Amino acid sequence: MATPPIFTVLPSPPLAGGTEIRDSFTDTLALARRAEESGLDGFFLADSLDYEPAFSSHTRFEPLSLAGALLSCVERINVITTISTTFNHPYHIARSLTSLAHIGQGRIGVNFVTSFGGEQNFGLTELPTPDERYARAEEFIEVVRQLGRSWGPETQDPTPINYSSDYLKVKGPLSIKPHKDELLVGQSGQSPAGIELAAKAAQFVFTAAQLDHLQQRYFDALTASASTVRADGTRPTVLSGLAPIIGDTTEQAWEHERAMWGTLSYEEQLRRIEEVLGIDLSDVEPGDRFPRERLLPIEDIVRRPGRAASIYEFLENNDLSLAELVRTQTRHNGHRTVVGTADQVADEISRIAGLASLDGFIILLPKRSELVDSVFDELFPRLSDRGVLIAATDAESTRARFARRG
Ligand SMILES: Cc1cc2nc3c(=O)[nH]c(=O)nc-3n(C[C@H](O)[C@H](O)[C@H](O)COP(=O)(O)O)c2cc1C
Repeated sequence: MATPPIFTVLPSPPLAGGTEIRDSFTDTLALARRAEESGLDGFFLADSLDYEPAFSSHTRFEPLSLAGALLSCVERINVITTISTTFNHPYHIARSLTSLAHIGQGRIGVNFVTSFGGEQNFGLTELPTPDERYARAEEFIEVVRQLGRSWGPETQDPTPINYSSDYLKVKGPLSIKPHKDELLVGQSGQSPAGIELAAKAAQFVFTAAQLDHLQQRYFDALTASASTVRADGTRPTVLSGLAPIIGDTTEQAWEHERAMWGTLSYEEQLRRIEEVLGIDLSDVEPGDRFPRERLLPIEDIVRRPGRAASIYEFLENNDLSLAELVRTQTRHNGHRTVVGTADQVADEISRIAGLASLDGFIILLPKRSELVDSVFDELFPRLSDRGVLIAATDAESTRARFARRG
């Protein structure tokens, strides 16, 4: 990485069983302020449009509303909000994001996703295929961009965009004056179609890779795709998810890790794997060898082909029981987990920051509130001491860090 790595945090929905649950707006704002004070560049809001049994007992916020409230209270960092291109309309979203850009003086970014569930909440009996979702996503992003420019370079000359396709028909111009800064657009699908969309339309990507060689492979695919669709030699900025778990000793850190996930039942973990793989495994005993012969051709996976492909590869390289697969693959959704003392975790993040295959991190905060403090109080100061986390001085230079890489 030639320039300082980008650091953003993602507050994770709490899992039951912690000693304390911090899930109010005041708690979330306190995290955003700590992120700003710690020198981070962004605060990332994930989202789900579906009921999630494990998490729905806690307060969660619709991310556009939350972004508005947070932006009015932090001064330098960017708030990045996740938006589904499958279950929204771009005119609404362009209006919301434009309003947020005005509220936050441009410090808003968006992580566009194609969604892997929630269809029955939007009048559909089946989730559209990945190809349909990605085709609509590309047009959706294009319409949001066109609406953002629909008042002309001087924002004085509102002009219809007259966008018309099978998926979207939008006359324009935008009903509110666009913000002067171009919207910061990211995306996080990892299948070949997701990578292609990122190459065409995203300034940054959010990616999950548990190991260096998987990170490198994603990076190679992304840069190869970008080189075929971009004439200016740029590629999206690559932000990799990383979940730190810190203890006073290595053993205690692993104990924390086990305790954190121990509260999620085996049945719930199995349900998640079945959903990703699109198969029923209810008749397989936890200790039985994983029945690889049941795996569907990857082209038949509708919900999360990118995630399924990484599980297929994991199964190819490891002979596992069903329980082992469930345990290793449900934690942190395929993101890299780094477990150890604050010094060990800081050393490992410093090492990863030196890889050429990423530009920064999305730090997934622990799902137990009592483990979050050590990330802010012990890990981030160590990353600053090591010269890895370098705070930008103002909002403009913070935002500039997300700009396209060559
Ligand atoms: C790193 C990462 C983060 C994601 N975050 C979200 C999210 O917050 N909400 C969501 O609905 N989908 C999220 N997605 C999933 C997308 O909705 C995407 O549709 C799904 O992964 C299927 O596309 P793919 O097979 O191309 O990855 C995420 C995916 C990745 C890889």
